[in-house]
Amino acid sequence: MDTILALLLGYAFGSIPFGLLLTKAAGMGDVRNIGSGNIGATNVLRTGNKGLAAATLLADLLKGFIPVWIAAHYFVQPDTIPAAYVGPAPAAALGAVLGHCFPVWLGFKGGKGVATNAGVSFGLAWPIGLAYAVVWIAVLALMRISSVAGMSAVVAAAAAAALLGYPAYAPVLIAIGFLIIWLHRANIGRLKRGEEPKVGRKK
Ligand code: G3P
Repeated sequence: MDTILALLLGYAFGSIPFGLLLTKAAGMGDVRNIGSGNIGATNVLRTGNKGLAAATLLADLLKGFIPVWIAAHYFVQPDTIPAAYVGPAPAAALGAVLGHCFPVWLGFKGGKGVATNAGVSFGLAWPIGLAYAVVWIAVLALMRISSVAGMSAVVAAAAAAALLGYPAYAPVLIAIGFLIIWLHRANIGRLKRGEEPKVGRKK
């Protein structure tokens, strides 16, 4: 029961479309009409408002972190290690990313989950979050391409869970990883054609 509640809690948090809400509140229109059409911080940055992009990044990160942290600390935890694979924390993690990527409020057309999965990773275990953040920031600094940095971080989180002592969280992070990479298929197409914009470019 707690696992289902955690999934719903995660979805409720994850489905809040902060990028859209913040850009509308700032009078900048609908972020889905610019750039890639995504509601994430990278596309909010294409409005030219760095503060709004930073606020979107932080809010999207927190909406992943908070439900996972609540599920891990306040929900009934499974007795056995194998059951942890489907316990409240992984369920909240999956719910948050699904909520961000498929929000009921936007006709199930949401974002790509990179920032929310960063918060999820920190909520599951800080070393997983740290691996995510280090890879994300390092690849972004080296390549200046948000999609490549995000997809690299997603893979790093799944690997970190398996290698750093959190195997119970690896399956959900692998599943989320496949979902996020699939949601980047248009970015992958642009990367292959050499058309993926660098961060900060309004394309
Ligand atoms: O987090 C989304 C990012 O990886 C790509 O965003 O707007 O360039 O498709 P965008």
